[in-house]
Amino acid sequence: MNLHIHSLRANPFAFGIGVLGLALLPAYAQTGSEHKASPAPWMNTHLSPDERASLVVKEMTLDEKISLLHGTGMASLGPVSPLAVKSNGGAGYVVSIPRLGIPAIQMSDAAYGVRSSGENGRYSTALPDDLAGAASWDLDAAYEYGALIARELRAQGYNMSLGGGINLAREPRNGRTFEYMGEDPVLAGKMVGQVMKGEQAQHVIGDIKHYALNDQESGRNAVNVNIDKRSMRESDLLAFEIGLRESNAAAVMCSYNRVNGDYACENKYLLTDVLKKDWAFKGFVLSDWQGTHSAAKASAAGLDHEEPGEIFYGDTMKKAVESGKVPKAELDEHVHRILRSMFASGVIDDPPEKSVVDVEGGFEVAQKIAEQSIVLLRNEHSQLPLEASKVASIAVIGGHADVGMISGGGSAQVDPPGGNAIMPPGKGKTTWQAHIWFPTSPLKAIRATAPRANVQYDPGTDHAKAAALAKTADVAIVFAYQWESEGMDLDNLSLPDRQDDLIATVAKTMATTIVVLETGSPVTMPWADRVSGILEAWYAGSRGAEAVARVLFGDVNPSAKLPITFPKSEADLPHPILVKPPKASTTHGEPDDWKKIAAGLPPFQVTYDEGLKVGYKWYDAERKQVLFPFGYGLSYTTYTYSDLKVTPGKSVQVSFRVTNTGNRAGSEVAEVYAALPESAGEPPKRLVGWSKVKLNAGESKEVNMELDALYLSIFNVERDAWQLVPGDYTFLVGGSSQSLPLKEAVNLK
Ligand code: BGC
Repeated sequence: MNLHIHSLRANPFAFGIGVLGLALLPAYAQTGSEHKASPAPWMNTHLSPDERASLVVKEMTLDEKISLLHGTGMASLGPVSPLAVKSNGGAGYVVSIPRLGIPAIQMSDAAYGVRSSGENGRYSTALPDDLAGAASWDLDAAYEYGALIARELRAQGYNMSLGGGINLAREPRNGRTFEYMGEDPVLAGKMVGQVMKGEQAQHVIGDIKHYALNDQESGRNAVNVNIDKRSMRESDLLAFEIGLRESNAAAVMCSYNRVNGDYACENKYLLTDVLKKDWAFKGFVLSDWQGTHSAAKASAAGLDHEEPGEIFYGDTMKKAVESGKVPKAELDEHVHRILRSMFASGVIDDPPEKSVVDVEGGFEVAQKIAEQSIVLLRNEHSQLPLEASKVASIAVIGGHADVGMISGGGSAQVDPPGGNAIMPPGKGKTTWQAHIWFPTSPLKAIRATAPRANVQYDPGTDHAKAAALAKTADVAIVFAYQWESEGMDLDNLSLPDRQDDLIATVAKTMATTIVVLETGSPVTMPWADRVSGILEAWYAGSRGAEAVARVLFGDVNPSAKLPITFPKSEADLPHPILVKPPKASTTHGEPDDWKKIAAGLPPFQVTYDEGLKVGYKWYDAERKQVLFPFGYGLSYTTYTYSDLKVTPGKSVQVSFRVTNTGNRAGSEVAEVYAALPESAGEPPKRLVGWSKVKLNAGESKEVNMELDALYLSIFNVERDAWQLVPGDYTFLVGGSSQSLPLKEAVNLK
């Protein structure tokens, strides 16, 4: 078994720091014997965050500096430090320095909503998962996503978010695929940038994770990922580069795995050469929970902060500083970065005040984003939308659709109000890796939307019985789920629990079968051409059912597009078989597992030799047919594309026209791809821009885009720099990566 930090029961953290005062006083400088205190100079908001941080650092003792470099344990693991009593119950807590007016950092996981509500007796909204958010391709929705999370964090007393996952889906069986934003660096980077902007605008420290290449959960504490520099810079790291550039997110969490030999959290290339130097990142790097493996080496490589305890960045670090192993300037830089981030994000000037989470407001945002993120994958003979006034009877089948919709697990898990919806009332406590359903019932939502129809439910456990119910109805809607979580990977991309057979059995007896998928990763669909309609609803969040019903009945015209390819089978993946760790490279639930992890488990190798060919770039280059391509998604109306014009220049301008040729208003995600010159040695094409265009029936709009030169460049490893390769570029425009009716070639110098 692959041990997870959250499943540890024993106290895994060593502590040795003196107790700092816990009450937070206003920031006044003590001026010797003078009685009149004046506000501390760093509270002058006219100064820059850097100036303010420098002023504080000058005043700090060594112990105070060390206290900022590490957490104090995890609340959920029990009292591990006397200091942790002031923790707000989140995943991380860094003590305050009352003497200097520096507040504590209260961190909470917040991938698709604020975590740990259950154990803290609080409430949080579950948004659609992160992959769903990416499927909206909607930058405003992404901003709203972040803003909502941050409002709820603040209401609960947190000032730092641990969300913002953007590991590219090199391995779609990764159990955290739902926490990430798909397979394309430009889409993931731009979307996470908006999420972070939305968060930080509420005065919460934003964090992007897991840097980098933590693309499978199996053996994540041991695995050594081998990848060439060009491929990582142009793919996996580019997503972070764009996300940080767009948002100035204040924190980056380094990941558990090794990259080309060194742990990500002590990898000088990743942390210093690329992140801090090349991208000029001014924030701080914190380790994933128990992703720190040294003091001096990690510090020199650029790790600023250890979580969740102080195995290396407490006493050991203090001694290393005192003995000169870690230079004082290096220590000060870590401290400066943390304080700077606190000033820059506003958590010092505008600390959170606890209040009641806006439940109704959360529902509204969750539903709106769900409506924008549900992808219509198939709609034979325009069976959808259903007409509420015309359908006499509906069979709702499977997926616990009578009570709820499934959610993603692990440290991303948001706790449902009332507990797990599939458990008897009062028995729904959420536990690590339990399969959790949110109380958003598709059955109820469908009944409410089609009040005149006779809507019956069958759990789908007995396939023949389900098919018999379907036979009596005008339409069958089958709900199917695939659960996933941190700490595990999927064995394959099939729906679990014989659901493929359930769907096939129902479809055999029913002309009109609609399948609603609740999945965190792509799934294979052996029955795809036997059903009338397929909706991908992902992990749809607190108001998933209402959103699904509104899409099914046409109150919402679907506009989402896939942020990830759905392959035909695992055999078509770059790595048909996921590399599993040898026994020695995993832990097995023993009390001192944390020591083994800290000391370093023996590495095993995963080699991303598909290189630049991530996601659709792989299927394009290998000429493999897919089930549903990247960027694909249907609408209840139709669009045409025309009048492409590409104007080369300092930056490339692209303009084209999109027309809504149907009889319903809708929003079309218009996608622009570029094929680079032959000599660039790139996969056939890459996404370089998109625009979500709102169009009334019959309306036509011109879309103008200025393309970012970075998105057209390659990373030249010899020069250690981005480079625009001179030559012929072909620009392709359309509604999916495989439907690009417009094409124009231009020469770029
Ligand atoms: C996860 C992180 C998470 C942290 C704190 C780790 O196991 O990988 O994503 O933020 O725990 O809960």
